Amino acid sequence: MHILQTVSQIREWRKSAQRVAFVPTMGNLHAGHLQLVREAKKYADKVIVSIFVNPTQFGINEDFSSYPRTEQRDLELLAAENCDAVFLPNVETIYAQNAQTTVSVSQVSQHYCGASRVGHFDGVATVVCKLFNIVQPDVALFGLKDFQQFCVIQTMVRDLHLPVELIGVPTVRDVDGLAMSSRNGYLSETEREIAPTLYQTLQMARDNLLAGQAIVDVENVAITQLTQAGFSVDYFNVARRLDLEMAQQNEPHCIILAAAKLGKTRLIDNLWL
Ligand code: PAJ
Repeated sequence: MHILQTVSQIREWRKSAQRVAFVPTMGNLHAGHLQLVREAKKYADKVIVSIFVNPTQFGINEDFSSYPRTEQRDLELLAAENCDAVFLPNVETIYAQNAQTTVSVSQVSQHYCGASRVGHFDGVATVVCKLFNIVQPDVALFGLKDFQQFCVIQTMVRDLHLPVELIGVPTVRDVDGLAMSSRNGYLSETEREIAPTLYQTLQMARDNLLAGQAIVDVENVAITQLTQAGFSVDYFNVARRLDLEMAQQNEPHCIILAAAKLGKTRLIDNLWL
């Protein structure tokens, strides 16, 4: 497995590869990330994973400095998956000292996580655009757990005519339904027991919607249930999958999006309708 740290190393490696599939990550790899790597193999002859904890997508009071960094273990897991190359840039490689360019996707970044994490999606779009330009992949894979992030990247790729095909991979869950996330490691034992309630509440909301209940009632019941279980709910909304605008009653192609904090840990999840 090639370990590459600079742009020129990537350029050199890129020459040896015909069709490249790319999986950007922030490391602390879990089964969700590894599923993206396995899927990636179906689309290309070479798979490259980046591990970069991107400072610009964290707010000032967020967990950038404490974000779990487990590079050695990550490399072992990727080697075991027969990953071809890993890009491990340092911050200066991605953000030159006088860097002045930001990619901002306006509408689709606005609500949900974009509202509670101001500037987050500008950081995501900017780093993913830079990584795409460095790696020049044919295909890039992202998890649908971060559905709004997927929409932001899709919109950026469309608007900037970036020559990359995007693949969304369904959410990988623990046996009790909790969506795999690097942040699950922050949960205390008690919080970890409560955490699957988020997915259970999404499922309950889906059932209630399918039974014909009004969207606003379904959202309110879900928020109450989560609050009673000990969550501090950031949002719980039914949206259109196409553009993340508010869904109308019985509209097809919708998604329920949720974010809630358990103690200091912010969890997100969603369920397609
Ligand atoms: P990170 O949180 O490390 O996630 C990397 C990729 O793994 C993302 O596409 C994410 O959606 C996917 N992923 C995470 N948990 C998953 C799960 N349970 N099932 C399936 N896929 C899952 O997302 C980021 O990093 C960053 O924002 C990044 C795109 C790398 C830009 O910095």
